[in-house]
Amino acid sequence: MDYLKIKSTPSLSGTIKISGAKNASLPLIAMTILAKNNVIIKNLPHVADIRTLLKLLSNLGAVCEFTDDSVNVDTSTLTETKATYDIVKTMRASILVLGPILARFGHCEVSLPGGCAIGQRPIDLHLKALEQMGAKIDINAGYVQATAPDGLKGCNIIFDKITVTGTANIVMAAALAHGTTVITNAAREPEVVQLCEVLNASGVKIEGIGSAILTVHGTSGELINIDEFSVIPDRIEAGTYLCAAAITKTELTLTDAEPKHLGSVLAKLEEMGCTFTLTHDTITLHPTQNLKPVKIVTQEYPAFPTDMQAQFLALATQADGTSIIEERLFENRFMHVSELQRMGANITLNGHTATVSGKCKLSGTDVMATDLRASSALVLAGLVAEGETNVHRIYHLDRGYDSLEKKLQNVGANIERLKEK
Ligand code: UD1
Repeated sequence: MDYLKIKSTPSLSGTIKISGAKNASLPLIAMTILAKNNVIIKNLPHVADIRTLLKLLSNLGAVCEFTDDSVNVDTSTLTETKATYDIVKTMRASILVLGPILARFGHCEVSLPGGCAIGQRPIDLHLKALEQMGAKIDINAGYVQATAPDGLKGCNIIFDKITVTGTANIVMAAALAHGTTVITNAAREPEVVQLCEVLNASGVKIEGIGSAILTVHGTSGELINIDEFSVIPDRIEAGTYLCAAAITKTELTLTDAEPKHLGSVLAKLEEMGCTFTLTHDTITLHPTQNLKPVKIVTQEYPAFPTDMQAQFLALATQADGTSIIEERLFENRFMHVSELQRMGANITLNGHTATVSGKCKLSGTDVMATDLRASSALVLAGLVAEGETNVHRIYHLDRGYDSLEKKLQNVGANIERLKEK
């Protein structure tokens, strides 16, 4: 197992190229199950979750060739329809194959994902929506067994809660369904928008893209032809490196980014005193030497993303004053707090709200990553902590950050990947 050793880094400088978005790539790879042709997807990030999903598709019989940062997926050879526990347990987003496999083959089995470090994360809304579309769903021996021998049928679905992968799953199911599916209270995340845009460009008419009401006109089971496309930039990776610039109080430029997807994150950094120069695909952060405290509530897009909460919590430790960060999406997404406290952060947790009293003098020590974004928060803290910080269990980080330590090394961070003894 690897860990990261980080030494206090007084300043960073240079540019960081942003990779393709992990959370966009996953549904887009699952979408290839709906295709009749070989699909080429470009600008994929080199992260473990992508490899896991490609392995899942290969296990089902698809042929996936991953070269450089693109993949060529041929699902014409896909015959198996069971996503087994050994893969699903390593990545909950494996549930994304349920909608497209069921829509194409009329049956699908997916292992229930089980517990998760940041909360319960049920999939009841995915299943309820598929049942409304005419699927018969049984839970048996830890597996979701779904059948729809006569195909799925379009209907009106109103999600009780906004769910990102739930919306993606149902959009993909609806793409091959008979008739029209109207999804109300749909997720509006840019990753869902790209999925809809690619499907729309492939002949599945979708109205309301980017809004909370999506209308998907199904192809009645006919597979679709998907042209080559590129994955959108990773807004969470970009947000994380902006926090790295802000916490070290240095200027950094991100390239291949999409500033339009980062509105709420840039707004919070501005509230803290940072300023920006933006082009259509670059973001330069101009730091402030006196970070101001901030109030944050995590919510669905376009509000502030839960996937940036941990990084801002680390950043708030270096602000002068009291910051308040409320987590509204996941009930247990504060595992990084106790690790940051061990580094000297002054944080009080009260239910879903963290109060950070800055400015805290952080000291390096051994800390443990507990989930993907918590890992990067510890890296950020390590950049400004006195001495040496060792971040263990970085397999969480490797799930979603493409070459994090190399990208940070290139801009002058004192960080290296080492093997646990
Ligand atoms: C996705 C992202 C994840 C991000 C999250 C919220 C991917 C691969 N992952 O996760 O990085 O943190 O959105 O922006 O894109 N819920 C239910 N029942 C369901 C589904 C969800 O109660 O059937 C609840 C969840 O427990 C959570 C909320 O709805 O409280 C939002 O979850 P959801 O949007 O589904 O998260 P994911 O799609 O799993």
